[in-house]
Amino acid sequence: MTKLYLQLSHSIQEKITLGLLKSGERLASIRSLMDSHGVAKNTVISALNDLEMKGFIVAKPKVGYFVTQTKQNMQRVPEQHFPDTTLSKVSLSDVFYDVMTKQAAFDIIPNEQSTPPTSHLASLNKCLRRAFREEIPFRTSHYDTPKGLRLLREQISLRYRQRNIPIDASELCITSGCQHGLMLALMACCEPGDVVAVESPTFYGSLLLLEQLKLKVVEISSHPLTGLDVTHLSSVLKNQNIKACIATPNFATPTGSLMPEESRKSLVMLANKYDFALIEDDIYGEISFSNTVSSLKSYDVQNRVIISSSVSKVLSKDIRIGWVAGGKWQKKIEHLKLTSMLAASRSVQAGLAQFMHQGGYRKHINYTNLQLNNQLQTLVDVIQQHWPTNIKYTVPNGGIALWVELPKPIDSMALYHALLNKHIVVTPGILFSHRNSYSNYLRLSFQHKMTPKRVAALKVIGKMLAT
Ligand SMILES: Cc1ncc(COP(=O)(O)O)c(C=O)c1O
Repeated sequence: MTKLYLQLSHSIQEKITLGLLKSGERLASIRSLMDSHGVAKNTVISALNDLEMKGFIVAKPKVGYFVTQTKQNMQRVPEQHFPDTTLSKVSLSDVFYDVMTKQAAFDIIPNEQSTPPTSHLASLNKCLRRAFREEIPFRTSHYDTPKGLRLLREQISLRYRQRNIPIDASELCITSGCQHGLMLALMACCEPGDVVAVESPTFYGSLLLLEQLKLKVVEISSHPLTGLDVTHLSSVLKNQNIKACIATPNFATPTGSLMPEESRKSLVMLANKYDFALIEDDIYGEISFSNTVSSLKSYDVQNRVIISSSVSKVLSKDIRIGWVAGGKWQKKIEHLKLTSMLAASRSVQAGLAQFMHQGGYRKHINYTNLQLNNQLQTLVDVIQQHWPTNIKYTVPNGGIALWVELPKPIDSMALYHALLNKHIVVTPGILFSHRNSYSNYLRLSFQHKMTPKRVAALKVIGKMLAT
């Protein structure tokens, strides 16, 4: 159990990082914090000390505690957009295919060097090589079981339990990445023609799946800082049945938003009331720069949350290992996995399980999170110094991308084409809605090392935006 003072400190930190408490704003008094949280004076004082130590607040003697000025809370936040909620089929532009062909989904200059491999990645390679050498006759002549390797599922379950998310190894099914997991989840709980709610803006991969599976979509407004707008979803549900809702509570792409705990609880309660499946995309759940983050699964008493994730963002996009905990649809998901791929590679699973067991995975994630946070700070510095001041953007507290709103009438597709001539690839906003909304938005990633070439490319974009 997290100590009481840390719980209070985390809840105040959440308000600061979400922009609900602004730079320079005075915190409530010790007395009112004691009353509103039902805790003792010592607990409040320890929480305030913790916040001060972490640089979130400063004490002004005899006046009170104030939120500090950080890059995170000085930026101008993009507007929340309320999409048209009439139902429609999905049909997407070819731009995503183009971006993937250029291998530029999360990089502005894909040919530029990536972050150098760490010693952790070298030990992952060792574990994989060893796994490929072991048990060769058996592994090459037998398919793996539908659920996937138990040793790997146990390691994944352990990671969740360390986040206080109760997922047992028996509830997991190994997939070929998170995209595959999302597909199995949608196929398990929907039929063609059913309606699925998604955040707006949303991950283009979900839209591709809805198009392919002939599902209808209703886009629900998502705040760039606090994610899926549960009040908006609730008003849509009064007139519209939905079969499932795909949500990314932790550092959603493209915005980097983080849903407050209260909204998570309300979302699960809505799913219970209106009887729909909640498909939680938790691919960024381990990329948090301050506190461990929870999951919708933590509030799921009816087993209607399906969680899908993978190692693509924290370790490797190449080994194509993901997983689903399918709640009440688990058996169906395992059958669908069998249908779609028969089995996953047992050697890759065994190598990854060994790497996790040795502690390499945990160390690699801790290291990567520090790197990502530094890269984010460099990106924000470049934007602040070299881009026009009338743009708005998010500064997330985790994940790998931020969301930029450009002043109208700048069209990010025109910018995309103009920058291609300079071998720079940006991800235009229209990819994040099936209605081609967000024509004046961009997603920028800080996943890669900010080399001089990448910084120079960002300055070129800033110059173009200024003309
Ligand atoms: C939110 C989100 N979900 C799922 C995926 C797909 O992940 P994977 O590579 O594991 O299939 C991505 C990849 O960009 C993503 O951003």
